[in-house]
Amino acid sequence: MQEGEKIWFDGGLVDWVDAKIHVLSHALHYGSGAFEGIRAYETDRGTGVFHLTEHLERLHRSCEMYFMTVPFSVETLAAAVHETIAANALRSCYVRPLVFRGYKELGVNPLNCPVQVVIAVWPWGAYLGEEALQKGIRGMISSWRRIGPNTIPAAAKASGQYLNSQLAKIEAVKHGYDEAILLNEQGMIADGSGENVFAVHKGRLFTPPTQASCLPGITRASVMRIADLLGYETVERDLTRSDLYFADEVFLTGTAAEVTPVASVDDHEIGAGPITREIQATFFDVVHGRHPLSAEYLEFPVSDRATAS
Ligand SMILES: Cc1ncc(COP(=O)(O)O)c(C=O)c1O
Repeated sequence: MQEGEKIWFDGGLVDWVDAKIHVLSHALHYGSGAFEGIRAYETDRGTGVFHLTEHLERLHRSCEMYFMTVPFSVETLAAAVHETIAANALRSCYVRPLVFRGYKELGVNPLNCPVQVVIAVWPWGAYLGEEALQKGIRGMISSWRRIGPNTIPAAAKASGQYLNSQLAKIEAVKHGYDEAILLNEQGMIADGSGENVFAVHKGRLFTPPTQASCLPGITRASVMRIADLLGYETVERDLTRSDLYFADEVFLTGTAAEVTPVASVDDHEIGAGPITREIQATFFDVVHGRHPLSAEYLEFPVSDRATAS
């Protein structure tokens, strides 16, 4: 990670090196936090943050699941994101807002611990590597099952649920694969360790429904809209692992992974196909401000908006 200058911490900017918490903070022991991954892209109009409000609304929802009252509104956090990017003099970056239970008591009950908020930004290139964006990654179906709606609900992007993702990711990497795809308790495709999954069959897109325990991805929804504009229908339905093996194309979507082709699943060769490439190219046009959807999907600081209009 490339160190920056400033981190937004509980209402104001502090020096990067001073953004510290106590070792007995609740979140460190019990995973009691919720976070977002957001990307900001360089455009002709300046730095545009992709779906900023939607990400922060999801953060608020995730916190609600765990009765963490976020002490800042979505509007305040949105302004703080722009302020943090500017304070670090970055034109494009990854943005990580985190809400967590701090230091007070250390029982499992989190309710008496303070709720704290940080926003950090740093440059982050292609999550699965530049080559992955071109050629695709080698995926494996994990032996670990995805958390379920009655264990840890996937709809909330909580810190602790990423232990499940870590088990799958570690297994995949140790077996020589790039990424893990997890099945849910019913044995249907759920999610990548940090991405949503799409399969292309005969010109149609298929992706698991959110009931399959995938995160309701913001990139997923954007890609479905882009696909529709390009004339491809998306069907949300349960997928088996053989639906991936026999697919014409498979790709992953996520803030970090953007649109990444899957070259193989469990060594069944698939390859990066033309529909994935077309969707990926359009996605990059959108996030870089070169598409009619950009105006809707990218958010700029209020002062820039006033100047632009
Ligand atoms: C498990 C999981 N699935 C899917 C996604 C993709 O979600 P989004 O497109 O909102 O980043 C992520 C990333 O946040 C994730 O961690």
